[in-house]
Amino acid sequence: MEGKMIVLEGIDGAGKATQANLLKEKFEKAGKQVSMYSYPDYSSVYGERIKSFLYKKITLNVEELFFLYLIDMIKDKKRMMEDIHSGKYLIVDRFFFSTIAYQSAGGFDYSRAKQIIKLIDLPVPYKIFYINVPVEVSMQRKEKQKGKMDVDKFESNKAFLSKVSEFYKKLKNERFYSESWEEIDGTQNIELINDLIVKNINLV
Ligand SMILES: Nc1ncnc2c1ncn2[C@@H]1O[C@H](COP(=O)(O)OP(=O)(O)OP(=O)(O)O)[C@@H](O)[C@H]1O
Ligand SMILES: [Mg+2]
Repeated sequence: MEGKMIVLEGIDGAGKATQANLLKEKFEKAGKQVSMYSYPDYSSVYGERIKSFLYKKITLNVEELFFLYLIDMIKDKKRMMEDIHSGKYLIVDRFFFSTIAYQSAGGFDYSRAKQIIKLIDLPVPYKIFYINVPVEVSMQRKEKQKGKMDVDKFESNKAFLSKVSEFYKKLKNERFYSESWEEIDGTQNIELINDLIVKNINLV
């Protein structure tokens, strides 16, 4: 039986990693084999460059960024397909939807971004959960987590995150790449959100 790819999307601090870990526990309890993916993948050469950019050690233009984030995912394409074919449950904390939303907010052409993604042919998720939180909540959570001095390029920019949210909403409303977008109110209690996500996944 084919596996399932579950994608978690949303702006900084929406709760993606929190939900990814809870979901892993639930799947394992249900006897599923789980494979975790998280982007950017800071253990990769591409992820290292992204980290250098986020911490302002290097500058990259929006096109370089777009393709750098993408190649970090493309390197895992084969392993993802293998995981799916072997019946695993893939939990993906950010996928190329994040790349489209963030880089479009940074000036990359939104339509062009979508066209390029379609050509690359990455796996189609079984479900995409868009965890929606207001920008204020995002910034409060990240400040609490890291302290005000430590916030990276994205997190320091409220106007930018608002634009990112708008692009996520567009992608969801257009049902881009997959019919199975679900929006979840990320300001709710952690366990409740987890229940909502699990209810939306057919655990067979
Ligand atoms: N539903 C929630 N209610 C309150 N706090 C939450 C909720 N979900 C997560 N948090 C807290 O918010 C912070 C950010 O959560 P998390 O790391 O899961 O977000 P993320 O979406 O992965 O963020 P990033 O995009 O920055 O990696 C953590 O301190 C976490 O405990
Ligand atoms: Mg995270």
